[in-house]
Amino acid sequence: MDNPRRAHIKPYLFAMELPYIEPHKIKMVETIHTSTLKERSRWITEAKYNLFKLTSRQVTVDLLTDSGTGAMSDRQWAELIQGDESYAGSASFEKLRETVRELLGYPFFIPTHQGRAAENVLFSALVKEGDVIPGNTHFDTTKGHIEFRKARAEDCTIDEAFNTTTDHPFKGNIDLNKLETVFKSVPREKIPFVLITVTCNSSGGQPVSMANIKAVSALAKQYGIRVLFDAARFAENAYFIKNREKDYENRTIREIVLEMFACGDGATMSAKKDGIANMGGFIALREEDVYQQACTFNIMFEGYLTYGGMSGRDMAALAQGLKEAVTYEYLHGRISQVRYLGNKLLEYGVPVQQPFGGHAIFVDALKFLPYVPRKEFPAQTLAVELYKESGVRGVEIGTLLADRDPVTRRNRYPKLELLRLAIPRRVYTDNHMNYTAAALANIYARRNFIQQGYRIVREAPIMRHFTIELESAEEKTVLC
Ligand code: F0G
Repeated sequence: MDNPRRAHIKPYLFAMELPYIEPHKIKMVETIHTSTLKERSRWITEAKYNLFKLTSRQVTVDLLTDSGTGAMSDRQWAELIQGDESYAGSASFEKLRETVRELLGYPFFIPTHQGRAAENVLFSALVKEGDVIPGNTHFDTTKGHIEFRKARAEDCTIDEAFNTTTDHPFKGNIDLNKLETVFKSVPREKIPFVLITVTCNSSGGQPVSMANIKAVSALAKQYGIRVLFDAARFAENAYFIKNREKDYENRTIREIVLEMFACGDGATMSAKKDGIANMGGFIALREEDVYQQACTFNIMFEGYLTYGGMSGRDMAALAQGLKEAVTYEYLHGRISQVRYLGNKLLEYGVPVQQPFGGHAIFVDALKFLPYVPRKEFPAQTLAVELYKESGVRGVEIGTLLADRDPVTRRNRYPKLELLRLAIPRRVYTDNHMNYTAAALANIYARRNFIQQGYRIVREAPIMRHFTIELESAEEKTVLC
């Protein structure tokens, strides 16, 4: 008979590594909507093949964005109740300002209603006609706010970012040679700042290494140019630094975050991402004179300085969300779920960007649908197919998003044509990921029969992808 005193040793012989678990359990659920292929085909036609025009009731799993779609924690809801709605001097404002100061280390703070509002306010103070703003691929609202002021966003991302299969741990990095070329060819007074987007959404939610942040900062200092961050997913970026960069393994997320921002002079933030808030944003700054200038624009565009477009309760919930976002447990659960979806898709042979990004999986539409011509928007075509197949809503990160060249008015064809599946924070289970992966696998099996995409019927002059109207290229061909 086994020695009972040694029984505890036995299981270890067969021990398997425990999988990650979500660091939360569910207190409240929300019903999602299922539909038939016939219904979805009608709805997407009525929506002019623009997934932004679908109503949420027409969507089963919504991976359109991770922005403002996260689930707040019980502690955030508790904070909501304590929100101070005073117009001036709100205690919730103070709570948020202190949290941001503690995390980012910048003394000056301005709340705004979301990220693009922070861009609008800060760029009103800093960006003039003819300016050039180099950085890693600028997000579309950021680029929009730069181009709206007749300035130019110069993409200096490393080339590895544009090959979806090249293995590189930090595909959000800035190429220092490209950056220095801009510094050398543009007069210093025409470069108000370098912008580092962490993580780099438009190149696939890819992180920027601490080494790169430091090198960019040193180079910019050499030329007397300030460094700003687009901080929407700063905590996810810090997680990747901890896991992938030598020397940071034993540092806490908070320590890494502080060190990242110490390399810069300020940040704009869409708090709808790593703030785990449904609405909110802010500007954080080191320089008082820039702060003073931005304050004037904030009062004009957003509201008084102690609320800036947010209600007191939202500021209180955001302060708590930011604290939760910089815990390793939260980030590990979050990013492991994104990886889970990526691995499932790889299992099915679906071409996805690797390594996986922090907030989303990006499907390489040029590889997935090689027969759809680029002028018929392959990534949008894939997004429509996925919706029809399953009710899963993703978003095109490709030619429609890239807009037309402001001078030539021609379509700008970005190096990558991607379907983004952005995963809301703490909302879906891994089974929703299984469902999404199976739907894409089905389309992949019949991919060679998909040869035609869409053409534009109506578009806005800037940021067109939100409101664009399309028609099937196929229908037109049949009619002709
Ligand atoms: N910067 C980045 C990197 C973003 O991803 C976004 C928004 C913004 C700025 C603008 O912030 O929406 O609060 O005004 N990205 C969303 C997305 C829309 O789906 O990726 P916002």
